[in-house]
Amino acid sequence: MIVAVDGPVAAGKGTLARRLADVLDLAYLDTGAIYRAVAAKMLAADADPNDGAAAEAAALGLRPEDLNRDDLRREAVGQAASIVSSQPAVRAALLAFQRDFAQRPPGGKAGAVLDGRDIGTVVCPHADHKFFITASPERRAERRHKELRARGEESIHARVLQDLKERDARDSARSVAPLRAAEDAITLDTTDMGIDAAFAAILALVAPAEPSGAS
Ligand code: DC
Repeated sequence: MIVAVDGPVAAGKGTLARRLADVLDLAYLDTGAIYRAVAAKMLAADADPNDGAAAEAAALGLRPEDLNRDDLRREAVGQAASIVSSQPAVRAALLAFQRDFAQRPPGGKAGAVLDGRDIGTVVCPHADHKFFITASPERRAERRHKELRARGEESIHARVLQDLKERDARDSARSVAPLRAAEDAITLDTTDMGIDAAFAAILALVAPAEPSGAS
């Protein structure tokens, strides 16, 4: 079983996808972490994320341990990841790994949950279930701001909102694999929905409970 969970930054897709994988014992891949790892390597090497050749080289040279870097969740890395990921050669370099993970999940798992921007549209267009998780920019900025503060990072709400809108615009406007819901995706707006309610809604669609008394 392949489950695709797409959506913009801080809509709750990562939490929902990870939880779904846990509950159903499926493998989980945070595809944003792959783009973040490419960006983090470039920033660490003082390379410009807009430099297409350097970005492609960083993507082709990506190793599994790069996904464990502890700077991946930083705001600067997220912004650089958005720039890096708009380059077609970078996306092409990372596509096979993502598809392979979905088709042959590690650990002998019976399926995989992938979250990102283009899982339902490009990486796994034949996924069994597709979700597009969204929320208003203001609510997402509020969540991201709290998350950054909780991690001890400096954060100014207005700045977070502005960065988030910039990232949404870049992720949506790029020519290759832009952020958008697949036509057959179910959209869930979490602006006024708690994470538990959102999770229950998804789980009910992916693994409907057997009616009691059914033989
Ligand atoms: O989900 P995230 O914030 O960790 O993603 C970081 C950036 O990576 C995001 O701004 C766009 C890019 N990305 C992408 O282009 N395609 C994906 N499948 C996942 C992330």
